Amino acid sequence: MTKKIEAIFREEKLNVVKEALYEIGIIGMNVTEVRGHGRQGGIELSGRTGSYRVDLLPRVQLNIILSDRNVEKTIETIQQAAQTGSIGDGLIFVYPVDDVIRIRTGERGHDALTYEGDIDMLAEGGAKVEVQMQATD
Ligand SMILES: Nc1ncnc2c1ncn2[C@@H]1O[C@H](COP(=O)(O)OP(=O)(O)OP(=O)(O)O)[C@@H](O)[C@H]1O
Ligand SMILES: [Mg+2]
Repeated sequence: MTKKIEAIFREEKLNVVKEALYEIGIIGMNVTEVRGHGRQGGIELSGRTGSYRVDLLPRVQLNIILSDRNVEKTIETIQQAAQTGSIGDGLIFVYPVDDVIRIRTGERGHDALTYEGDIDMLAEGGAKVEVQMQATD
């Protein structure tokens, strides 16, 4: 079965989170910039001219579609890498995913999520592959 992890965290943590994920063999992902707030409803900023409220704060949203069995390890990795301990560190949501289709080949489900040297292949004793950024990607 397949899940989607949607992690919302501080922008300045993006690189360290990405590196930590590559280390455990998470390869496919996408990132968007979002603005929002959690339970504190934003922050109060004060200056010489008074104070004002910023209610929508910038964060990054990292999305990963992956097999069920890799969810806990991935959540742990993101939480450790993204944490500062201060309020506003973010949240991780997990959703069920019905299906995945690789457009180029028509592969579906788990087959469409398999990458050379990824977390599943590492679990089976395969060698880690350095992530190479390609123009076609
Ligand atoms: N319930 C929610 N639904 C969707 N997005 C949310 C929700 N709560 C928070 N977010 C997003 O997560 C970001 C970070 O939230 P935040 O870390 O402040 O959550 P929190 O629950 O208030 O935790 P903390 O007490 O650590 O601040 C927000 O800026 C927003 O983009
Ligand atoms: Mg908050």
